[in-house]
Amino acid sequence: MISIRSKYPQLLFLQSFLFSIILLSGVNVWAFDENATKELLENQCTSCHKFEGNGESRFNLKAPDLMWGGSKFKRDWLVAWLQGNENPVYGKGYRWDLSQTPIQHPSITEEQANGVVDYFEKYLKDSTVKPNTIDYSKFSEIEYSFGAKIFRDFSCMGCHQVIEDGKPTGGPQSADFFDANKRLNPDWIYRFNSNPPDFVPHSGEYVADVSGLGLRYVTGYIALQGAQDFKFFEPWKTRYFANADAAKGANVYKEYCSQCHGAKGKGDGPAASGLNPKPAVHANMALSDFPDDYLYNVVYYGGKSVGKSSLMPDFGLTLPPQDFANVIAHLKATFKGGEEASISSGGMQSKKVVGCTQKRSTKKAPAAYLNRKNRVPATEENIQAGKKLYLKGAKPVACQMCHGKKGNGKGAAAGGMSPRPRDFTCSPMMNNLPDGQLFWIIKNGSSGTGMMAFRKLTDDQIWQLVHYIRKFSQ
Ligand code: HEC
Ligand code: HEC
Ligand code: HEC
Ligand code: HEC
Repeated sequence: MISIRSKYPQLLFLQSFLFSIILLSGVNVWAFDENATKELLENQCTSCHKFEGNGESRFNLKAPDLMWGGSKFKRDWLVAWLQGNENPVYGKGYRWDLSQTPIQHPSITEEQANGVVDYFEKYLKDSTVKPNTIDYSKFSEIEYSFGAKIFRDFSCMGCHQVIEDGKPTGGPQSADFFDANKRLNPDWIYRFNSNPPDFVPHSGEYVADVSGLGLRYVTGYIALQGAQDFKFFEPWKTRYFANADAAKGANVYKEYCSQCHGAKGKGDGPAASGLNPKPAVHANMALSDFPDDYLYNVVYYGGKSVGKSSLMPDFGLTLPPQDFANVIAHLKATFKGGEEASISSGGMQSKKVVGCTQKRSTKKAPAAYLNRKNRVPATEENIQAGKKLYLKGAKPVACQMCHGKKGNGKGAAAGGMSPRPRDFTCSPMMNNLPDGQLFWIIKNGSSGTGMMAFRKLTDDQIWQLVHYIRKFSQ
């Protein structure tokens, strides 16, 4: 037989030429030695991990299945983990029926680790994991908060830990998500969440009734755990808003809003008669002064997204992006709180001391809250911090927008609101409201009224606000 070499000497030249290119280019520092890696996996990993076949109950396994290892992990984390440079994933050990302590995982060298990851990426891709299931450049902060709510409401917290208020929170039954952003490929998380038993049957896993947008929210929430400086999408800063057209927005209003809010925004559309709470009377509200993000969230994600009634629909799936920008431009150009003056009529000022008491049908805080005393000391510093939140800082809408800069319940956005925002200057009324009641309503809102829940404020911030509010009646 004639060898290729002697017959085609130029091939030999080509071969060594290519070889030196690979050596000199330095692109792949760890030239992937497939055979050595295979051997390593067989000798040092297969005693615990499975690399082929189907997912199996963890009670038949020693370690997590890795058939989808090429789709599940982010490369940098995996290379570091394999060298023993990352925290254990299971707080109570993978097999919590056998042990209660995290394991010390066998570690390999950096070169070997890179070889393993190359091998995973070449042979252990899961074809059911689709790329770019969520476009994170379009993931907003409120979607993250919906994800956090699903994580709680659908028991995810029962078996998985996340960091909340700086502390590990949740049951350490399964993998924790402290570093999920660093550790897991978000597309894999999405695929896993779509049907967990495809991966871990009979392992004490759980199939939640979330699909569609819910799946997007909770997946995004998990995928962003531990992310540093993630920049959330802010739709109100896009070109749609730069190009907003109020006249076109008027048409959107006619087609999608007037059946409840009325043709002129007087809250008297045909549907209004049967609604409780009634549609907001836009004609009396200074929507011109409302922040864009708040209006966007109300219209896109519905009243419930800002602690209001779900009778105000979420139009996110109905309207194209430009329509949101246009209808918000219309709201801001048209509704400037025209009837603000009529609210302050009726001699309210003169009746201040005796007659200022408002009719309250506000829900009473549960006893455990009602008896709480303000735990934050009434120092100048805390009162000033409360003032800042009251005037500007509190999200979704600063308190003064409704309760007024002077605390008299006549803020720019208060017009047409029924019931009226609380008048904090009315001492006979305010003196009868314990600190715990004020605290609870600020935290949870008063449903069916303009008073929304302020879930982003910390407990200490709420207590600072309570101190500041009390100042108006002292
Ligand atoms: C003695 C058993 C054992 C051996 C040997 C072993 N592992 Fe593991 N491995 C585990 C356990 C247990 C876990 C769960 C990690 C935890 O509890 O933090 C794990 C976790 C992992 C993970 C992360 C899995 C996930 O779902 O987050 C990877 C990747 C991994 N091992 C790769 C390897 C590789 C590659 C080798 C061989 C070099 C290897 N392991 C050898 C027991 C083992
Ligand atoms: C009753 C316990 C339980 C509940 C509740 C639960 N899970 Fe899990 N989860 C598991 C188990 C078991 C696994 C498999 C991994 C393992 O063997 O520990 C798992 C794995 C996962 C993984 C893969 C993690 C990894 O690193 O391998 C994700 C993602 C996940 N769950 C998301 C969720 C979401 C989202 C919810 C709520 C909708 C949820 N889980 C609720 C038990 C639970
Ligand atoms: C099915 C009836 C209905 C439709 C249709 C509707 N809304 Fe509403 N809207 C309501 C109700 C009810 C409220 C009051 C919610 C509350 O007070 O809890 C409300 C409140 C509002 C608010 C005030 C939120 C606040 O902070 O008080 C705005 C702004 C608003 N709607 C805008 C719109 C826009 C824009 C459209 C059309 C794209 C629209 N609504 C369509 C029923 C509706
Ligand atoms: C969009 C308008 C609006 C905003 C913004 C708003 N409130 Fe209110 N607030 C109301 C209305 C309306 C009521 C009356 C609710 C009722 O009668 O049940 C109210 C009631 C209250 C009450 C009275 C609770 C009670 O039991 O009587 C407190 C305290 C309060 N708000 C504090 C705040 C604080 C602090 C902020 C800012 C962090 C704030 N509010 C922001 C509209 C608003």
